[in-house]
Amino acid sequence: NVLILDFGSQYTQLIARRVRELNIYCEIVPFNKIPSDISGFKAVILSGSPFSVRAENAPQPDLSKIRGKLPILAVCYGAQYFAYFHGGKVEPSQTREYGRANLSLIKDAEPLFEGVMENSQVWMSHSDTIKELPKNSIRLASTSDVLNAAYRIEGEETYAIQFHPEVYHSTDGKRVLENFLVNIARVPQTWTPGKFVDLTVADLKEKIGDERVVLGLSGGVDSSVAAVLLHKAIGKNLYCIFVNNGLLRKDEFESVLDQYKDMGLNVKGVDASNRFLDALKGISDPEEKRKKIGNTFIEVFDDEAHEIKDVTFLAQGTIYPDVIESISVTGGPSATIKSHHNVGGLPDFMKLKIVEPLKMLFKDEVRRVGAEMGIAKELLGRHPFPGPGLAIRILGDITAEKVRILQEVDHIFIQGLKDWKLYDKVWQAGAILLPVSSVGVMGDERTYEKVVALRAVESTDGMTADWVNLPYEFLQKTSNTIINKVKGVNRVVYDISSKPPATIEWE
Ligand code: XMP
Repeated sequence: NVLILDFGSQYTQLIARRVRELNIYCEIVPFNKIPSDISGFKAVILSGSPFSVRAENAPQPDLSKIRGKLPILAVCYGAQYFAYFHGGKVEPSQTREYGRANLSLIKDAEPLFEGVMENSQVWMSHSDTIKELPKNSIRLASTSDVLNAAYRIEGEETYAIQFHPEVYHSTDGKRVLENFLVNIARVPQTWTPGKFVDLTVADLKEKIGDERVVLGLSGGVDSSVAAVLLHKAIGKNLYCIFVNNGLLRKDEFESVLDQYKDMGLNVKGVDASNRFLDALKGISDPEEKRKKIGNTFIEVFDDEAHEIKDVTFLAQGTIYPDVIESISVTGGPSATIKSHHNVGGLPDFMKLKIVEPLKMLFKDEVRRVGAEMGIAKELLGRHPFPGPGLAIRILGDITAEKVRILQEVDHIFIQGLKDWKLYDKVWQAGAILLPVSSVGVMGDERTYEKVVALRAVESTDGMTADWVNLPYEFLQKTSNTIINKVKGVNRVVYDISSKPPATIEWE
């Protein structure tokens, strides 16, 4: 088990993902919340930070419990922290130190750099530079602009690197992390999907016993994987509810429900389409739509949950990025918890105990765990789909007819992506129905019909995204099919905006 101390860097989660990719378990905690019992940890990594060590409010961790007792790898801010507060010197950089640099290794046979090539590309992102190393330190590497790019402190297993090993652009970054964790800290690489399944199923059995659990399935990856894990642990005591809010993709409710039943899940499909459409009548404001949908879902779910006798647990597909406590950059090093898109409005009046079997996993790990348990690739590879569904892709007010039009358009687009083998190259795709009519001509008739926009983006986490350069022939064919087949649409446009400054959804 590895402890990652967060100093607020945008890359902290990336460190954790790289560590997990080495089949090593790790946890992120704010730098000022080091657990009182550290006996379970075998190594510590200090993250980067948006702060300068020279700033008045610079994060200053109390490392007395850790230093000299556990191997430490200090990244970027961490490297500067040791230099600044332990007998070295840190000053503003003379030249900009952002982006690519090449490592020149100084000492041969350093275990941290085993197998790392001379001139290996690394990624820098800092505006301060370490002028003098801390006491008892040995320089291990430099770059053309950074003399002290890596060092270690003698007499303890403390290593420090100025570059970011966690980013993709540091070519041997993963190697450096592996050298530190496996060769230096001797952390066993035993964190595999299979092991996770075994441990979690055993845990769930013990925690839940003979009690009953209710879970809301959404058709998405997280809730599905959570359901299968729980099913493995408690079988028929897991009661799944899958609500049709009438804003899903074409035929999705029926097909996903069948899929769930084939997987052996005890699932009840609830078609509440009309209830949602009624609640949304006349509403155009995006946030208002979200609220109505969230509240209606709670009502429907609660009604259904009451139908299950003696239920005591509520299971949720919450994943790690939703629960990581990160240090807040703007508000100083006070801890804030990020709130979750989907679970924000869950009813506390249900008074159920919560069980979240995926709470410590990243999305890609959830997929691997799902694959390990034999969940179909098609389900695991699904694009993300927002909870409010097509409601936030119909600009303006929502009617059954608009939902039908958009479902048809979306279906042609998504099916096309699959047929053209483009679906897996795209992170998320969908169609948007615009509140705009435009003039067209079909046969000899003038038409005055709706405009739809197609959107396809690449991304890793939805935080930033870029539009996908789909082949012109594909767009041409798709546009043609949509206009010919979907009554009420006579114009198709393709969205070529990146996030930021746009967002993925239009609402
Ligand atoms: P934006 O539009 O903010 O979307 O760039 C980023 C990601 O979040 C999804 N999204 C939502 N998911 N409820 C959800 O469950 C919502 O209200 C919501 N709004 C956006 C969006 O589909 C994309 O994957």
